[in-house]
Amino acid sequence: MKDKKENMLKIPSHIGFIMDGNGRWASQRGLSRSDGHRQGAEALKSVVKACSQRGIKAVSIYAFSCENWSRPQAEIKFLFSLITQFAKKELKKYADCGYRVMFSGDLSQLPKTTQNAIKKVVDASKGNDGIMVNIALNYGSRQEIVKAVNTILQSGIREVDEQMIEDCLYTAGLPPLDVVVRSSGEKRLSNFMLWQSAYSELIFIDKYWPDFDEATLDEILLEYSNRDRRFGGIK
Ligand code: FPP
Repeated sequence: MKDKKENMLKIPSHIGFIMDGNGRWASQRGLSRSDGHRQGAEALKSVVKACSQRGIKAVSIYAFSCENWSRPQAEIKFLFSLITQFAKKELKKYADCGYRVMFSGDLSQLPKTTQNAIKKVVDASKGNDGIMVNIALNYGSRQEIVKAVNTILQSGIREVDEQMIEDCLYTAGLPPLDVVVRSSGEKRLSNFMLWQSAYSELIFIDKYWPDFDEATLDEILLEYSNRDRRFGGIK
C-alpha cells in the first residue's frame, strides 16, 4: 500500500468484495471449513457497518457463485443455513436501521427457506434510503449478461445497446463498481460483476477474509484514494 495522503480520502460510491480464504483461514487454525465461513460472516457484519459509516452508497458481496455448486454437498448445505440465519438476524437488523438489502443471482434454485428469508428482508427494507447491501447469491456475471440479452431479445428488439443491457442487469440503478477488493492473495475476478467492474480499481490483499476488519477497509480506502482514475482519458 502507498504512503498515507491524509485529507485526500476519496470515498467510492460502490465497493465490491470477493470474500476469499475462509477455508484456508480455518485450516491454518485446525478448524473446520464451516468455522471459517462462520467467521467470514462475522467479518462481513463489521465491514458492512464500517462501509455505511464511511458514506459508501452501495456494497456488493460475492457470497455464492454459480460455480460453487461443485463444492461438497455438506459445505453447500452449511453455507445456505448460514446465509439463511444471516438473513433472519443480521439483514433484518439492516432493514430496521435503514439499510436497503437486495440480491443478485438466480434465487429460484436456492432452498425454499433461504428464498423466504431473503424475500422478507428485501421487502422490509424497500422504502429505506441507507447503504444498499447487494448480496450476489447463485450469481455469475456471464450468466447475468446472457440473461439480460435474452430479456431484451424477447421484447422483440433486434439490436442491443449498452444502456439496454445495463437496465436488465440485477444491479440496474446501482452506480458502477468503483473498486473491487479480493482477499486471500488470489488475483482474479472469478465471474464477479464483469460488466459493472469495467472501470473498477482492483485491490488484492493477502489476508484471508475472516481477518478483514474496519482497519483493513481504511487501508483499502487509502489505496483507492491514491489511484489515478482516468477512464481511458488523459490528465
Ligand atoms: C470463499 O472462500 C468463500 C465463499 C465461497 C463463501 C463466502 C461466504 C461467507 C463469507 C459467509 C456467508 C455469507 C453471508 C452473506 C452470510 P473459500 O471457502 O473458497 O476459501 P478457501 O479458498 O480458502 O478454501
